Amino acid sequence: MLIANVSPRTMAKTTDTAWLSHALEEDEEQYDVLGYDADHSKQFHNWSKKAKGDFRFPVHLQASAQFHKEVVPPAGKTIAMVDCGHSENHPHITDSVLRIADLVILHMSPTGADWERIVEPPDATPFMDILKRSAPLRATRRMPPTWVLLNRTVANASSTGYYREEMTKEGYDVFTTAIPRSEMFGQSLGFPIVDARKTAFGSLVTEMKKRGLLPVEEREEQAEQ
Ligand SMILES: Nc1ncnc2c1ncn2[C@@H]1O[C@H](COP(=O)(O)OP(=O)(O)OP(=O)(O)O)[C@@H](O)[C@H]1O
Ligand SMILES: [Mg+2]
Repeated sequence: MLIANVSPRTMAKTTDTAWLSHALEEDEEQYDVLGYDADHSKQFHNWSKKAKGDFRFPVHLQASAQFHKEVVPPAGKTIAMVDCGHSENHPHITDSVLRIADLVILHMSPTGADWERIVEPPDATPFMDILKRSAPLRATRRMPPTWVLLNRTVANASSTGYYREEMTKEGYDVFTTAIPRSEMFGQSLGFPIVDARKTAFGSLVTEMKKRGLLPVEEREEQAEQ
């Protein structure tokens, strides 16, 4: 499967993508991750190089508007994790990735600023419209399943619940798991990622499995019968 990690602008995508990739690799289902950096800033790719020896998976440079022709979503328990650039500035790349995404994770902080850039951007296409316009170009003819991941949340702050509800009102599914604001995540770019499964990203993988968003053993066996 292929997971597109998206947001209109800087919203902690690369940080979330790298940590979630490691949590998937560390999970008991033993997922294999293939990284794709679809952002010209190359931060996911460069991180994988700097942290050499720790990133157990390759991160390919693929900031291309022909992404859907160049990449084949892997089968089985191999998961392509795609870090997209700003959809506001590079809509053609995001459009291309959305054509073949099995799952979209929309990364955002629970703030009015991020909400506005997703839902009512003054100078860009609302993200829901970007998702909807992908439908006719997809094999399924439907927009890809899309989940919002709230990040940089603060314990007991009302913003988390408030923006979860606001995004739900806009028609989005929102993960129960939220990624807390922390110095460990904020300073992690370029450094090895260790024990991701013991962090909120491990809880996120558990939630994704429970919601049937990730391949699990039983399903593969059923499919073979
Ligand atoms: N959980 C977190 N807690 C604290 N800081 C965080 C957290 N996650 C990310 N950050 C910080 O937020 C900033 C943006 O993160 P990041 O670079 O991952 O965003 P991005 O969406 O990939 O941005 P861009 O689209 O510009 O590449 C960075 O300074 C990063 O260190
Ligand atoms: Mg980034």
